[in-house]
Amino acid sequence: MHNDLVRRVFYGRRQGHKLHPKQARLVEDFLPEIRITDFAEEPMRAFEVKKFAPENLVMEIGFGGGEHLAVQAEAKPHIGFIGCEPFLNGVAKLLNRIQQHNLQNIRIHDEDSRELIESMPDNCLAGIYLLYPDPWPKKKHHKRRFVNSENLHHLHRLLQPDGMFYFASDIPDYVSWALIHLRDHGGFDWRAGEATDWKCPFEGWVRTRYEEKALAAGRTPTYLRFQRRENICPGFL
Ligand SMILES: C[S@@+](CC[C@H](N)C(=O)[O-])C[C@H]1O[C@@H](n2cnc3c(N)ncnc32)[C@H](O)[C@@H]1O
Repeated sequence: MHNDLVRRVFYGRRQGHKLHPKQARLVEDFLPEIRITDFAEEPMRAFEVKKFAPENLVMEIGFGGGEHLAVQAEAKPHIGFIGCEPFLNGVAKLLNRIQQHNLQNIRIHDEDSRELIESMPDNCLAGIYLLYPDPWPKKKHHKRRFVNSENLHHLHRLLQPDGMFYFASDIPDYVSWALIHLRDHGGFDWRAGEATDWKCPFEGWVRTRYEEKALAAGRTPTYLRFQRRENICPGFL
């Protein structure tokens, strides 16, 4: 019980500036139509509300303002996208994009993703994106990083065989941290065909707000692609 309480603390911001009236209306009226709270039922059902039957499901954890998620969803209308983001201003931005582009294939979990991923069944996702997760640079805060053994256990479990996990960061220490944790988990193959793979953005890439900031500050993005391996061999990447 104590561990649960410690684990579920969310250290990020839930709201920034006051929402504009239009954003507030979207949160009030539109969000409930596409919000998902848990997956007690089959995840595909979350998309049936709008009579849409996705071929596959992809999740983005911590989508920020939803720049990447919206572009992916527009490019792949046959895929169902689940976006998780507890920061209300970011959610409002994505809602605006969804409405402007009339996207039918996005569902939003406007809470910490951890409870959702724990409630989801095995093998239900074709891909998971974790783009520029909060870096928590101070050593005493490293335990807050999203990449940890418990979350990796769930990400691995949720991915279909051969499903992909995409991680991007501009913080070298977090990149090393991610590589070490994924190696130690043992259920992911790092798909780095060439030495320069980590410099190449993912397919259909669009710069996120955080990446724009990182580039403006002179930091270099790193893109890591991992494929789910069927057998878990700890210490193997
Ligand atoms: C540094 S920002 C990056 C946002 C976006 N991916 C980008 O590249 O612009 C990290 C985001 O992750 C979100 N976040 C942090 N912990 C989370 C969690 N447990 N579940 C879902 N989102 C989370 C934060 O609210 C924040 O918006």
